[in-house]
Parts: sequence; C-alpha cells; structure tokens
Amino acid sequence: MDPGDLVLRGGRLLPVDQVGDVRIAGGRIVEIGRGLVGRRMIDVKDLWVTPGLVDLHVHLREPGQEYKEDIETGTRAAAAGGFTTICCMPNTRPVNDQRTVTEMIVRRAREVGLVRVRPIGAITQNLEGKALADIADMKSAGIVAVSDDGRPVMNAGLFRRACEYARTFDLPVVQHAEDLDLAEGGAMNEGVVSTRIGIRGQPACAESAMVARDLEVVEWTGARYHVAHVSTARSVALVREAKRRGLPVTCEVTPHHLALTDEACSHYDTRTKVMPPLRTAADRDALLEALADGTIDCIATDHAPHSPVEKELEFECAAPGMLGLETAVPIVMSFVHAKQLPVVRAIAALTGAPAKAFDLAAGALAVGALADVAVIDPDRTVTFTADALASKSKNSPFLDQPMRGRAVLTLVEGRAVFDLDGRFA
Ligand code: DOR
Repeated sequence: MDPGDLVLRGGRLLPVDQVGDVRIAGGRIVEIGRGLVGRRMIDVKDLWVTPGLVDLHVHLREPGQEYKEDIETGTRAAAAGGFTTICCMPNTRPVNDQRTVTEMIVRRAREVGLVRVRPIGAITQNLEGKALADIADMKSAGIVAVSDDGRPVMNAGLFRRACEYARTFDLPVVQHAEDLDLAEGGAMNEGVVSTRIGIRGQPACAESAMVARDLEVVEWTGARYHVAHVSTARSVALVREAKRRGLPVTCEVTPHHLALTDEACSHYDTRTKVMPPLRTAADRDALLEALADGTIDCIATDHAPHSPVEKELEFECAAPGMLGLETAVPIVMSFVHAKQLPVVRAIAALTGAPAKAFDLAAGALAVGALADVAVIDPDRTVTFTADALASKSKNSPFLDQPMRGRAVLTLVEGRAVFDLDGRFA
C-alpha cells in the first residue's frame, strides 16, 4: 500500500553527513536534496535521518520460548530502537535447522508486519555439533547466514565441512567463538574481578583460540566467516591480521561489550551475565578502537531476552544474555557524545556495514532504495523502565538511568512502525 508522498525536511542525513530533505513515495526514497516538496511534510530539523538500522544478531525466541519474547514483541522492540532489518538466531525450540522452521519465522514476521526479519539457520542439527543441518533447503526458504550461536562448533572437521557447504551458497558462517574446553563453564571473564568475587571465570583465550583455529579453516576453504559478539583485544588483533591478508572475514561487537567491563559483575547482578562475558577495560578499549578503525565491521545487539525464571538465580546458574534492541542507540551515542567514536562511523556500523556483511538489501539512504529510515534525536534524554519496554523481557542493566539519544521515528517502506512523538498522527 502506498502511504503517499512524504518529505522528511531539513534533517542531518547520515552517514553521508549533510543537511537535506528526503522524499519518499511508493515505499521508496525517490529524491534527496534541498527544498523538496511533498503532499506531507515532516520537519526533522536538528534530528538525524539515517538508513533504518540493521541488526545481525537478535534472539526472537519464537518458536518455543514465547514467554521470553515473540516475533511480535521482538520486532516491536526493534522498531522502537530504530531497527528496520533484524537477523534472528536459530536457537529457538525447535531449532531453526530446517525449512519448516525458517518458513514459519518468515511467515509470522510478515503477518506481524513491523520490521524485516531475516532468519539465520543452524550449522548443525539441533545445534548439537554432530551433523550438518540441511543448509541448502533453509537457504531456499530464506536464511541469510548460518550459525550455532549460543554454542560454538567445537569439532574442527565439522566446521571445515560447514564452511565448504556454506561456501557453495555464498552464505556467511557465523561463529560463537568459545572453546568450551578452555572456557570450562566459566560464568564470567577470568581475571582479577572473578577472583575477587569468587565466581569461576573463563579466560579471554577461550574466544581467541577459536577465532585463530577458524581463521586457518577459513583460509583453507575460502568461506565467508563472521565472528559474532567479538569481545577480546586478542580476537580483534587476529581479525585485523586476517583482513590484512585479504581473508573474507567480518565481525560484530555488542553495545554492552563496548559500554561495560567485568567490574559490572561485582555485585552479582545476573543482568550483567552474558556470553561471551564482559571483559576488562583493556579489552573494551581495544574494541572501541577496532570499531572506529573498521576492523570491527558492525554493531549487533545480541538482544537476548530471558524471564525472571532464568535470571533471578545465583550468578553461576543464571542464563547468559541481556536485551539490546531498545538501548543500542543511546549506548552507541554515548561514545559519539564523548568523541570516542565518529558519528559517521557509528551510523555506518549500524546500517551499511552490517547489510554488506550479510548481503542484505538494506542500510542505504539512496534514491531508489526502499524507504527504511530511522530518525534519531541525538539529544533526547531517555530513561528506560521495565514497564515501558516493548520487549516482553526486562533483563537489561541499562534500565532506570538517564541516557542521551534515541530513535524517535522508524519507517519501513515509508510506513511508520514506531512514532514516539506522533509525527505521523
Ligand atoms: O549472552 C548470550 N545469550 N549469548 C549467546 O550467545 C546466546 C544468548 C541467548 O540465546 O540467550
């Protein structure tokens, strides 16, 4: 349905970084310039107009764990965060390791009709790491990458076969890089803080050892490889070196690994328990530097909703994961405001760069592109509260504190799927 001719007038267009107007008609961007006129004009002066944000790493929990989140609440949270395209991880129940599950997710997301949902298929059947899933069949049903996220592919031979299989479809292989033998079930980062508070930690090398192994296999097979939620300085160094050698490697960082360190776990707050764990300040600084210089391609939230049943437990027993979709923009903005991350790079890492990593037709503010657009108010103060979240779950350590900057309007094909101030009303 054509919502009609619309002009967003006078915004700061990013990542191109110029002030201008965007005219939208028939669900597409039809003109970008100055002094544009349309049947409907929305003044976005002093606001940022960006491509709709793209998140490569979301857990929607449907099918099977709808008490934590479902496709409707998860996509509503995405829209509220400025995201218009999200990729959902296959660790649902049943696992998305076959066509029927992929099709169900695609169909349900269309019915809900908020943001675009692009499923990621499992690498191995039931995420068990024993036998490959039917990647070809899932590819024809719409998957955009494969991953056993939540678990690594520990068996190197199987990982090699997965790379060869995925390569025939040009699909990125997304690794949850955690050597389980090194990790030994550690619930947080192994270091001074874990020792002080008496929680078993897992060493940073549990991640980087797996990245190093994978890069050898990637070089051998030529498969596209994407490191999920990279969290250590050493992993970043390995990715930097692999890119220098021209390997087809990309990676993502989460807002929480940029914003928090293992000190945040000091009070045993299970909302700070995530996998990979929050690391040291030195790791965090290396992540920020690598994001700024492009070694880390993109920001992905790892939005991981959990209910109190999984979270209100002893730290070591609680499920890992925190919400991400609604708080991503203000967290990333904090680095922009602090001049630690150039705004153009921040927006690229949330739009064009993730789209490129998974070959998604999204992430560009260009004439002819679908009118998936986010309008961000860089100075709006927002305090997220449990009651006001669109997500069904509330497991975020970023609640109840003022943050600065948020999406105020989210358009999918020119249609408002989130409209904080009623500009469309
Ligand atoms: O913290 C996490 N939670 N990390 C993962 O890799 C999985 C995710 C989940 O599914 O809850």
